[in-house]
Amino acid sequence: TERTLVLLKPDAHRRGLIGEIIGRIERKAGWEITALELRTLDAGTLEQHYGEHQGKPFYEPLMGFMQSGPVVALIVEGERVVEGVRRLAGPTDPIAAAPGSIRGDFGTIVRENLIHASDSPESAEREVALFFPGCV
Ligand code: GTP
Ligand code: MG
Repeated sequence: TERTLVLLKPDAHRRGLIGEIIGRIERKAGWEITALELRTLDAGTLEQHYGEHQGKPFYEPLMGFMQSGPVVALIVEGERVVEGVRRLAGPTDPIAAAPGSIRGDFGTIVRENLIHASDSPESAEREVALFFPGCV
């Protein structure tokens, strides 16, 4: 089965939405949470995680935001879970995200959009190795 790496971002922790978001993931039939940890990320880990965005105008503010509080990192396993959690999250911009999605229901601005989810099975394996080296 497939797996994906999910981060509940510092805004989710600040706003008390960790349980709500994990609940939505957990309720989805056929998915299983196989790793979970709360921690504050350092710049080195984030540089590797968001390396594809280095040099973009939103990169530095994104790095600051992602270090502004703890995140909850999870591995979720299940059939087509990469696509599935991206759909549950909704589009990057909360304004464009439909009600019923996590970003659509709770998102405010594009940078503070509550959740990260791997965008492909290949990204998922790279990100699992970064956040849970013991799970490779
Ligand atoms: P992640 O799951 O966090 O990777 O989000 P994503 O895959 O939906 O978006 P993407 O990888 O393109 O961007 C990573 C993160 O950078 C987003 O989740 C936002 O927090 C932020 N971001 C992306 N695009 C913009 C933008 O145009 N402006 C701002 N301010 N932030 C952006
Ligand atoms: Mg992304």
